[in-house]
Amino acid sequence: MEERIQTLMQEVSAYTATDKAGVENFRLAYVSKKGAVSELFEGMKQLPPEEKKKVGKLLNDLKQAAEAKLAVLNEQLESHTAATFDLDLTLPPVPNTTGNAHPLTLVRNRIIEIFERLGFNVADGPEIESDWYNFSALNFPENHPAREMQDTFFVEKNPDVLLRTHTSNVQIRLLEKQKPPVRAIMPGRVYRNEAISARAHCFFHQVEGLYVNRNVGFADLKQTLYHFAKEMFHKDIQIRFRPSFFPFTEPSAEIDISCLICNGKGCNVCKHSGWVEIAGAGMVHPNVLRNCGVDPEEFTGFAFGMGIERITMLKYRVNDLRLYSENDLRFLRQFQSVI
Ligand code: PHE
Repeated sequence: MEERIQTLMQEVSAYTATDKAGVENFRLAYVSKKGAVSELFEGMKQLPPEEKKKVGKLLNDLKQAAEAKLAVLNEQLESHTAATFDLDLTLPPVPNTTGNAHPLTLVRNRIIEIFERLGFNVADGPEIESDWYNFSALNFPENHPAREMQDTFFVEKNPDVLLRTHTSNVQIRLLEKQKPPVRAIMPGRVYRNEAISARAHCFFHQVEGLYVNRNVGFADLKQTLYHFAKEMFHKDIQIRFRPSFFPFTEPSAEIDISCLICNGKGCNVCKHSGWVEIAGAGMVHPNVLRNCGVDPEEFTGFAFGMGIERITMLKYRVNDLRLYSENDLRFLRQFQSVI
């Protein structure tokens, strides 16, 4: 019996098959219930007990070898079939067809990441707004030009329902609900009735920031925005604050960074000034705090607002705003490797 097992062992290891039938023959001959191995197991019952142990082990080895061989034969058959029918290993790989985040999403996420590490929460507000939240509560005088038709889209000719022209409406909504300290950033889409060109669009995106607490000063605003610009662009970037005006902040400033295209030497992008504007900012006007039920004697705060399109333009040297909303895959795919 031992000899028979050995012979079978050799047969099993030497067996080759080139087609399905060959593999099936192997299975029938060695692995199936009616095959040679099962037959030997049957025969083992008649052996005297002292031999049973030894032969049993050999037989088990044979059984395992036959099963392993069957698996190998099946595998070979499969790869052989694939190779002969539809697999050409010399072809370049199938291109990666997964999508990627839109550049504005990438930059928005990066802005959120930078401010979250400074302790800012993300807040949200409606895009269809009332005059109160978009203008009046923000200390816009009744006759301010920004309320006029050329800037604002009104919903169904109702002067009280409009598409928000900035994300500052969320400042008001947040301060109404939450007692200071409030430290939040508010990304979102805004709308302005402007002719579409390379530098202007009727909708775009902003990120508003607000920090209200006891003893918040202009130095806090400056350091926060310095930190942001260095994180967003690079650590050697130059930053300057220019005096400006917004109804809802006093004092107000516009923030410029040294032009990334020409490194401050002067070019078309910075109109040969060496500087480009990235944000508006200032200390929250006491009237705004009062409108939200916050006592300006006890609390002060700063606010800032920046355009995501502008930051993206500077960071990735995009020279036409319209590219962001045209869905041209040749443009969008360039951001595939950016995380
Ligand atoms: N809301 C302003 C704008 O849209 C930006 C801004 C926000 C300025 C907060 C100061 C403070 O231009």
